[in-house]
Amino acid sequence: MSSLSLQDIVCCMGQPLGRNPTQYMMEKAFSAAGLDWRFLTLEVSPEHLVAAVEGMKAMGFRGGIFALPHQLTVLPHLDALTETAKVVGAVNLVYVSQDKYVGDNTDGKGFVEALQKLMDPKGKNIVVLGAGGTARAISVELALAGVESITIVNRTVGRGQELVTLLNQTFDGRARLVQWDGDYAVDPETDLLVNATSIGLRDESAHVPVDFEVFTEQMVVADVIHNPPKTNLLKAAGQRGCKTLDGLEMLVGHAAIDFTTWTGISPDTTIMREALEEYFEL
Ligand SMILES: NC(=O)c1ccc[n+]([C@@H]2O[C@H](COP(=O)([O-])OP(=O)(O)OC[C@H]3O[C@@H](n4cnc5c(N)ncnc54)[C@H](OP(=O)(O)O)[C@@H]3O)[C@@H](O)[C@H]2O)c1
Repeated sequence: MSSLSLQDIVCCMGQPLGRNPTQYMMEKAFSAAGLDWRFLTLEVSPEHLVAAVEGMKAMGFRGGIFALPHQLTVLPHLDALTETAKVVGAVNLVYVSQDKYVGDNTDGKGFVEALQKLMDPKGKNIVVLGAGGTARAISVELALAGVESITIVNRTVGRGQELVTLLNQTFDGRARLVQWDGDYAVDPETDLLVNATSIGLRDESAHVPVDFEVFTEQMVVADVIHNPPKTNLLKAAGQRGCKTLDGLEMLVGHAAIDFTTWTGISPDTTIMREALEEYFEL
């Protein structure tokens, strides 16, 4: 029960958002931090995005998380963008600074923070599957973390090449593109394989076209898909002795940054992870 009639409000906007666990996790974290904040899950269609963002501003929301399909289209409707959001070209976090609604991208930082618990990416050989907004955010952040090489594997060459060109602008030619055609055979020298595609989202039976037979125990395999958390890719990697990083850890990683940006307080990430496991009945 709130002690005040006015609470601070943040939200998640996307479509579809059914079974999205962010509200459940954030409300537990607000409560644990003693904050009287509210988190709303708002299913917003692309044609209503502009009105919804204006409404968010008009009602004084403290910020929001933007999910598919709004992560690119929301950019022109914000008052300012951080350097990261400009480089990545996509926004997942909106916060208020000096009365301006600022777009940022914390997906990559959240991923790297989660990854640091398993491995330091510095000096490592990385394969990223996908070249969409999430792959861009993760690859840029991995490049900044000092990896040795990044191979982008993408179905659509143009999109993949765009990302490789972006990475090589600051990455000294150590990024390369492989067109994804059939089961991709990961180079045995690979230290980290990341599925940053949308393959598997809300689809337990989905198969990421990768040759599992070449996985080695030295590899870390990560999947950005958080629903379902135990994807077929991670199951196959686990069976072959790889360390795995699931989409829930990435979610906790960026949600913790989002929480701190909005409130100025660091959340309890153990409570956040536990909330997600409770939500998905793991
Ligand atoms: N766990 C987390 O915290 C977290 C955070 C952010 C996002 N995500 C998840 O990340 C996923 C990707 O999001 P996004 O914003 O990057 O999406 P996006 O911009 O639409 O990009 C999707 C990527 O997946 C590839 N792809 C989709 N279907 C494919 C298929 N059947 N075969 C091969 N490639 C395929 C696309 O390849 P083409 O270029 O060839 O189309 C593209 O590279 C979403 O599922 C989202 O839920 C998770």
